[in-house]
Amino acid sequence: MDNKYLGLTPPMGWNSWNTFTEDINEEVVKKSANAMIESGLHDAGYEYVVIDDCWSLKERDKDGRLQEDPEKFPSGMKALADYIHSKGLKFGMYSCNGPLTCACYPGSFDHEFTDAETFAEWGVDFLKYDNCFKPKIDGNILYRRMAMALRNCGRDILFSACNWGAENVETWIRSTGAQMYRSTVDIRDSWQSIKQLALSQISKISYSGSYCFNDIDMLVVGMYGKSTNQFIANSEISKCTDIDYRTHFAFWCMMNSPLMIGCDIRSMNEATKKTLTNRDLIAINQDIEGRSPYYIGSSPEAPREYFWMIKMLSNGDIALGAFNFSDKDRTLSLQLFDIGLPVTTGKCLRAYDCVNQCDAGVFSEIIVDKIKAHDCKIFRCKIQDLK
Ligand code: GLA
Repeated sequence: MDNKYLGLTPPMGWNSWNTFTEDINEEVVKKSANAMIESGLHDAGYEYVVIDDCWSLKERDKDGRLQEDPEKFPSGMKALADYIHSKGLKFGMYSCNGPLTCACYPGSFDHEFTDAETFAEWGVDFLKYDNCFKPKIDGNILYRRMAMALRNCGRDILFSACNWGAENVETWIRSTGAQMYRSTVDIRDSWQSIKQLALSQISKISYSGSYCFNDIDMLVVGMYGKSTNQFIANSEISKCTDIDYRTHFAFWCMMNSPLMIGCDIRSMNEATKKTLTNRDLIAINQDIEGRSPYYIGSSPEAPREYFWMIKMLSNGDIALGAFNFSDKDRTLSLQLFDIGLPVTTGKCLRAYDCVNQCDAGVFSEIIVDKIKAHDCKIFRCKIQDLK
C-alpha cells in the first residue's frame, strides 16, 4: 500500500453514468473495458473503468455489507475487478456520504470503514463519493471520514469526492485527502451546460493541483444525445457539434480537470476518437507539475465568453489556449507582454497548434487569431531568440 502517487496527475477513465445511468450491468462494463483497449483510449492514457450509481441491492446483507445486484452483476464485483485488472485497467465504483445514494441505493453514511473494506476486498481502485441525502453534518467531516477509511482499508483507492461545488469545497477538500473533487452541478449533453460549467470554474482554478484536482464533471464528448436519462440528454437540449465537443475537451485539458469519458466507448465514431485521444492536449492535461493555468481576458470589450488561458509546463513550454465560448466568430489577441514576454526580452515563441496538430509559426509581441464561434486554439510554445 503506497498511495503517495495517487492523483499526481488528473485521473483519466470512463464512467457509466452519462450514457447508461441505472441501466448498468456486467456485460456493458466488460465490453467498455475491452473498448478502452481496442479503441486506443488506454494507449492515450485512460485507465479507470468506473461503475456509477445503481449497482447494488437496495438492502445491505446481514453483516451490514453492501451487496452487488446479482441480476446486473451475476459474476460478482470481485470477478469483474479481476477481469478489468487482467486488461491492465483499473476499477472504480461509487457510493455516497448519505444513508442513500442519489438514486436511492444504500449509501455509506455510518458504514464508511466497512464499505471501504468491502471495496478493497473486491479490488476497487477508485471511489466516487456523492453528496445526496447528506446528514446535517459539515461536508468536510463526511469526506474526511471516508478518506480515512480508504487510506486504511489495505488497498490504494483513489478518492473522487463529488459534492457539486457546495460549501466552498475547493477551500477545504484538499485537506480531507481526496484526490479529485467535483466542483459543479451535473453536466448535460448540451453546449449551454458545457459553457456554464466551464466558465464557472475559471475564478477557482488556482485551488486545483497535483493530488487534488478540480473535476468539472464527466465529459459528454461523443454522446450525440444518447443517454438512458432524459435530464442528461434529450432531443431538446442535445445540439452539440464535434467542434463543441472538441472545445469542451480542450478546455477540460487546459484546466487540469480529470478526464472521465461519459459516452458509449463501444461505438465511438472517428471524430470522437480523434478528440478523446488527442495526445497533445492530453500531454498538457497530464503535465507532471499539475500547475493551474491563469486567465487573461476580462475587459469590457472582451467579456468572459472569449478569453485566453495560459499554462506553464514543466519542460519550459507554455500552453496558450484561446477560447471562444460565444455564438459569434471573434478575433482574439494576446499581448505577449501580458504573459511576461515583451520583445525587450529578445525572445519570441515557436508555436505548435495542438488541436489541428501542426506547426503554427512564430509569434512575437502579439498573437491575433480569428476563432470561430464555440471553437478554440491551443498552442504549445517554446521560447526562442528573436531573429
Ligand atoms: C449525482 C452525481 C452524478 C451521478 C448521479 C448518480 O447527481 O452528481 O454525477 O453520480 O448522482 O445518481
